[in-house]
Amino acid sequence: MTQVLRTVGAYRSWRKESVGTASLGFIPTMGGLHAGHLDLVKRALAENERVAVSIFLNRTQFNKQEDFDKYPAVFAEDLQALEALGVDAVFAPEYDDMYPDDYRYKVSESQLSAELEGEHRPGHFDGVLTVVMKLLVVGDATRAYFGEKDWQQLQLVKGMVNAFFLPVEIVACPTIREASGLAMSSRNRRLSPEGLQQAARFNQILNTAENEAAAMAELKAAGFEPEYVADRGDRRLGAVVLEGVRLIDNVERKVAR
Ligand code: PAF
Repeated sequence: MTQVLRTVGAYRSWRKESVGTASLGFIPTMGGLHAGHLDLVKRALAENERVAVSIFLNRTQFNKQEDFDKYPAVFAEDLQALEALGVDAVFAPEYDDMYPDDYRYKVSESQLSAELEGEHRPGHFDGVLTVVMKLLVVGDATRAYFGEKDWQQLQLVKGMVNAFFLPVEIVACPTIREASGLAMSSRNRRLSPEGLQQAARFNQILNTAENEAAAMAELKAAGFEPEYVADRGDRRLGAVVLEGVRLIDNVERKVAR
């Protein structure tokens, strides 16, 4: 039976009494769970004696109110999926409990967070890093699981854990995709059936375009509003808007450099 813990205090009591010295896997989420999240949960269940999932729709990381309002809030559905997998606890606090300071205190990074997603979503990574810091401190887990779909987020979280000596192992998990290649995302629910089909081109173009400029042009021609495509080391990262829905993805670079 999955315990639902609504406050930091309730989580901490559960952590002390029901986990103790057992290994604990922790998966931070904002809800709207899809197969990508469930894959993180399955991996955590295989690698730890106890598993907790947080469901907290973190408003500080949304730079557009509209985006926050449209995020799928489907707690009962999420809980059912987690119970079916055998998750031990779901931590689902309210804003006031997570932000007793009303977001006066922030964690920020000054280089990578200003680029790509950070450039297009001002303040986004301050919100992400601040809430992940809170979740990792409260979560007090052996391992925390993050998807590679949010590549920049993953690098920033790893950097923060190193910078602040947080005693948790960050486990990176490969992006889970639809058969079409489209990366799983809670936002995909907002696309029409035609949009879902068209969205598959995003991943294909990232994989095959000759260079950043060619990818931008091909995405535009395929009906997307591309925000950026950037080649960084062995990754190609991109963000597009389709039917008013913002999608991000990243792929291993296969083209000649
Ligand atoms: O990747 C997400 O869903 C969120 O950014 C996270 C890590 C749960 C923080 O709110």
